[in-house]
Amino acid sequence: MINRSIAIDGPAGSGKSTIAKIIAKENNLMYINTGAMYRAVTYYAIKAGISYDEVSKLIDLIDNLEMHFEGDRLIVNGTDITDELTYPEISNNVSNYAAVKEVREKLVSFQQKMSQKYEVIMDGRDIGTVVLKDAKYKFFLTAKAEERAKRRCKELIEKGIEVDFNNILEEIEKRDYIDTHREINPLTKADDAMEIDTSSMTIDEVVKKISGLLN
Ligand code: CDP
Repeated sequence: MINRSIAIDGPAGSGKSTIAKIIAKENNLMYINTGAMYRAVTYYAIKAGISYDEVSKLIDLIDNLEMHFEGDRLIVNGTDITDELTYPEISNNVSNYAAVKEVREKLVSFQQKMSQKYEVIMDGRDIGTVVLKDAKYKFFLTAKAEERAKRRCKELIEKGIEVDFNNILEEIEKRDYIDTHREINPLTKADDAMEIDTSSMTIDEVVKKISGLLN
């Protein structure tokens, strides 16, 4: 299935999931939001009082999470937790949990199994470099940090969550730093990925650009 699969990576708020959702629908691909999976682990770990350095507890926790996607919703142990995953508490902690080698091994293996079963479009940080190294199509979306923070604020406000622009900008920059500097599978553009700076592009323009390259 790897041949028609599409990998999209990029920093926080670069538009990956918005774009991936649309392309998935247009091309009849399964959309796998890998960030949601790291967020789900963070959500349940915080709930259970497990810190990111308690590795064996984290592994046990993950082994007891059954995750699957229904459209763009993530269902964990039978519950749709998609809305909870964007809470600031999760965003502020997820990069620490995502930097744990054993957490990544578990989730990457799950993601690779999905890509063997289905034709997928996957977004994340290590998709083009690790998870779907052989994907035919790889994109790396970027945008200026201020623009990304603006988009994230708008998204959260629409969900009825109160936000402060400077806090969001700070959270995004901190996450980018941890994600690009971690030892295991850091966020980086795959050599064969096409980089698209979306700072001054509309969603529609990005979708058109990507769609035009698929065949
Ligand atoms: O939507 P946004 O760009 O804010 O983030 P996300 O895609 O939901 O990912 C949340 C966090 O999960 C990232 O900041 C990374 O720390 C981690 N992540 C990762 O390490 N590897 C992935 N493939 C996807 C997400």
